[in-house]
Amino acid sequence: MDAPFAPYPAGRMRRLRRSAGLRDLVREHRLDPDDLIQPLFVHDGSGPDEPIASMPGQSRLSVRSLEVLAARAQAAGVCAIALFPKVDDRLKSEDGRESWNPDGLVPQAIHAIHAAAPGMAVITDIALDPYSSLGQDGIVVDGQLHNERTIDALIQQAACHARAGADIVAPSDMMDGRIGAIRGALDAAGQDSTLILAYAAKYASSFYGPFRDALDSAPRGGGDKKTYQMDPGNGDEALIEVARDLAEGADLVMVKPGMPYLDILWRVKQQFKRPTLAYQVSGEYAMFKAAGANGWIDERATVLEALLGFRRAGADAVLSYYAIEVAEWLSG
Ligand code: PBG
Repeated sequence: MDAPFAPYPAGRMRRLRRSAGLRDLVREHRLDPDDLIQPLFVHDGSGPDEPIASMPGQSRLSVRSLEVLAARAQAAGVCAIALFPKVDDRLKSEDGRESWNPDGLVPQAIHAIHAAAPGMAVITDIALDPYSSLGQDGIVVDGQLHNERTIDALIQQAACHARAGADIVAPSDMMDGRIGAIRGALDAAGQDSTLILAYAAKYASSFYGPFRDALDSAPRGGGDKKTYQMDPGNGDEALIEVARDLAEGADLVMVKPGMPYLDILWRVKQQFKRPTLAYQVSGEYAMFKAAGANGWIDERATVLEALLGFRRAGADAVLSYYAIEVAEWLSG
């Protein structure tokens, strides 16, 4: 912080808060529809949308509904969608090979979004958990997630998504060295304009619970992800993770979860001054929905305040399950 606080402005701070017009005039940070990214779940069945009990208002969508929502997002001014596939149990395996099937659900969904909402940026998740019979983000060897074998699989998944037209691939697995490996593989395959969004500082968080319900992707047999996702007690380590991902070629970096980690977001943006995203995750969404539905908080006002807080803390954009709804509130 360079500005010293002396001399203090004399007189009343409250003068600048006197009217809505004055408050608007001097406001430092704002939230606009194009700061929001909508995560959407898609299923591969021919049936209808499947509501997600722990995420009221969100469903596993049919590809047809995905198209409708993509168009609605675009009309509201949202310019990116993050896709998450709900994969049938029969397609899950220990090596997650369905994740690089060129005719799989994600390639299909990418085409559907581009057709329904031309210009919409499609972000795909690079990790094996939706495809893993063990519910882990990579390949397990002798009970441990194997770094290099996992990266070999992630490279194939990223190349598959890039070929299908993903604008941004987003490795969310936290293996060491995967950003450089994926960048190298994409460049070698002629996909040098595909961006990489690194889930750079991703914590082993209990706030992901509803997401794992949505995809039926929780680690099996009481397992967890603590040997690869970060320990919630660490802050400095996040800066090292981000530095390494940027050095390996990440175009954008992310901090996840959101609200409990605003200090990390602030430090990352201050330190690196690169495009930085925050993810208001499924557990955060569930809390706003539950308290709002009970009338304990004003859902709309608290959600807007929380999202503005991400912007103030340094987020250039925020992934939020509220994105389309908020964009409509803002433009409505
Ligand atoms: C998995 C992935 C997770 C989320 C995004 N990608 C869950 C996890 O790491 O177990 C969580 C998102 C949310 O909770 O909203 N690679």
